[in-house]
Amino acid sequence: MGTPKNLAILGATGSIGSSTLDIVRRFPERYTIRSLTAGRNIERLALQIEEFRPALAVVQEEAGRDRLRSLLPGDLDIELLWGEDGLAAAAALPEVDMVVTGVVGAVGLMPTLAAIDAGKPIALANKETLVMAGEVVMARAAAAGVPILPVDSEHSAIFQCIGQHPRQEVDRLFLTASGGPFRTLAADRFDTIRPEDALKHPNWSMGAKITIDSATLMNKGLEFIEARHLFDMAPEKIQVLVHPQSIVHSMVGFVDGSVLAQLGIPDMKGPIAYALAYPDRLPLGLDYPDFTALANLTFEPPDLKRFPCLALAMDACAQGGTLPAVLNAANEIAVNAFLQRRIGFPDIYRVIASTMTRHGHQSRPNVEQIREADRLARTMAGEEIQKCNA
Ligand SMILES: NC(=O)c1ccc[n+]([C@@H]2O[C@H](COP(=O)([O-])OP(=O)(O)OC[C@H]3O[C@@H](n4cnc5c(N)ncnc54)[C@H](OP(=O)(O)O)[C@@H]3O)[C@@H](O)[C@H]2O)c1
Repeated sequence: MGTPKNLAILGATGSIGSSTLDIVRRFPERYTIRSLTAGRNIERLALQIEEFRPALAVVQEEAGRDRLRSLLPGDLDIELLWGEDGLAAAAALPEVDMVVTGVVGAVGLMPTLAAIDAGKPIALANKETLVMAGEVVMARAAAAGVPILPVDSEHSAIFQCIGQHPRQEVDRLFLTASGGPFRTLAADRFDTIRPEDALKHPNWSMGAKITIDSATLMNKGLEFIEARHLFDMAPEKIQVLVHPQSIVHSMVGFVDGSVLAQLGIPDMKGPIAYALAYPDRLPLGLDYPDFTALANLTFEPPDLKRFPCLALAMDACAQGGTLPAVLNAANEIAVNAFLQRRIGFPDIYRVIASTMTRHGHQSRPNVEQIREADRLARTMAGEEIQKCNA
């Protein structure tokens, strides 16, 4: 088996981070932790530090760093940092062999680039990075010879189905979607949806932002853009299919008309472990789907009228440039406002659509231009939220 792989886990206190640490706990001979990062959940991070003993820990704010220090034993040998520079340092730490990007949102971009520049393989859960800057990130990773292994279950499925097949044999990607909790809800009821309704995902247990994204189908839109970049696939060759049972995690169509699918129960430990151990498979002991109990596996086209966020993302993907970053930023602001009950569920779409309309599109942007577009979009989305309430 050799020496254990040293991991950096960005977003250790979140859903992906905690599932990753569950795997590390189960396979201590395979994995050790070198750096852990959190946002504001300092208490949880302190417990993780005591258990996994990283050399470096990072939190979002300086005050959080000070509080973390006060919670840890005084004689613990650990460096504590904060903010964006801290995240980049956690990703680029010399002894790290692989970086798991489990932070949520645009904050994932810079540490992912830092990991690439330091030559670290990446297990990528933070889809927002590829939505904002897919071309830049994939080009930089290719130039540095850094593998980016997908953690998103759909992209892991596609990655597994493609396997060793040459790129020219891959013709189409079928991206499955559960449809979320409002798959069958009538459009005229959407304005009655409250955050607590949208936070109840039928099949997956995840962080708040991605759960709301799943309810609007924006999550599938972000994944559409992610797939476009990860697999270098033209947008017209990616088809979204609503598959409420969440058993087929996605499929790949080949030039001879064959379709390969990857199936499993909905549990993120599967795709996380696949990225961590690639090309090996870990004995996770997860249950198989109970095929005899499944009455059927169904597939239907998404309803873009009731779920227009998906159409916005597909449009942003087709136009490219800074538009996907603007879509992403406006979505983050709008989802946050919805969770805080400042806007209604249908307003999420309105805020993103009007921000995208106002945005001055730039093609072939560099990282700084993408970050500037992200900043401007956040301001504009804030203004659009005010208009919703005027
Ligand atoms: N959850 C899933 O099953 C799943 C599946 C596929 C893909 N993904 C993707 O994986 C990513 C993480 O999702 P999640 O569900 O794990 O989210 P989550 O549970 O909300 O966790 C997010 C993590 O990011 C940290 N964080 C948030 N804002 C930060 C900031 N400004 N600076 C530093 N750290 C920050 C959080 O810290 P605190 O909690 O300490 O504040 C937490 O550790 C997302 O991009 C999501 O789309 C998730």
